[in-house]
Amino acid sequence: MDVRIRKAAGGHDAVAIADLLRSLGWFAHIGNESADATRYRVARHLGLCNMDNSHTVYVAEDDAGEIVGYCAVHWLPYLMLAGPEGYVSELFLRESCRGLGIGGRLLETVKTEAQKRGCARLMLLNMRHRDSYKRGFYKKQGWQERPEAINFVYPGTV
Ligand SMILES: CC(C)(COP(=O)(O)OP(=O)(O)OC[C@H]1O[C@@H](n2cnc3c(N)ncnc32)[C@H](O)[C@@H]1OP(=O)(O)O)[C@@H](O)C(=O)NCCC(=O)NCCS
Repeated sequence: MDVRIRKAAGGHDAVAIADLLRSLGWFAHIGNESADATRYRVARHLGLCNMDNSHTVYVAEDDAGEIVGYCAVHWLPYLMLAGPEGYVSELFLRESCRGLGIGGRLLETVKTEAQKRGCARLMLLNMRHRDSYKRGFYKKQGWQERPEAINFVYPGTV
C-alpha cells in the first residue's frame, strides 16, 4: 500500500480520525456518543494541538486520500531533562491496514522530528492486554520497556 505521512490539518482529517477512533470500539465514552459528538471533539482537540508547535499529529494517507492511521506526539519541556520529551499519546491504524509497516513509519517520523528538536527521549504507554504489547510491536521498533516504572492515573471528571 502506498502511503504518505503528513501533518494533520482540520476538516477532513479530524472527521477521518474521529471515525477511525469510533471503529476501534475501545472507548466506552466514544461508543456512547453520536458520531457528530466524536467528530466535534476531535476537531476541537486537533485545533488545540495545531495552535503551536508543542504538539504534532501525523496522519498516514493512502493514494486515494483516505486516512488509514494517525499518531499524536506532545513535546514536553521537562525542567529536569537535558532536552524535551516527546510523549506519543496515540497511535492507531485502521484494522484493514495493520501489519503493513505503516505504524512503524509513523513512529520513524516521530523519531526524526524528535532528533531535530534535540529530545532527551520519547515515551509512550502500552497496555499489557493489547495485541501491540503481546506481539512486541514497540520492542521491535527499538523501544525499551521500563519494568522499574509504575504508571499512575488520577481519574478526571468526564
Ligand atoms: C499497533 C499498531 C500501531 C502497529 O502498526 P502496524 O502498521 O500494524 O505495524 P507494522 O506493520 O509497522 O509492524 C509490524 C508489527 O506490528 C505488530 N502488529 C501487526 N499487526 C498488528 C495488529 N493487528 N495488532 C497489534 N499489533 C500488530 C506486530 O508486532 C508486527 O510485528 P510481527 O509482524 O513481527 O508480529 C497497529 O497494528 C494498530 O493500530 N493496532 C491497533 C491499535 C493499537 O494497538 N495501537 C497502539 C496502542 S498503544
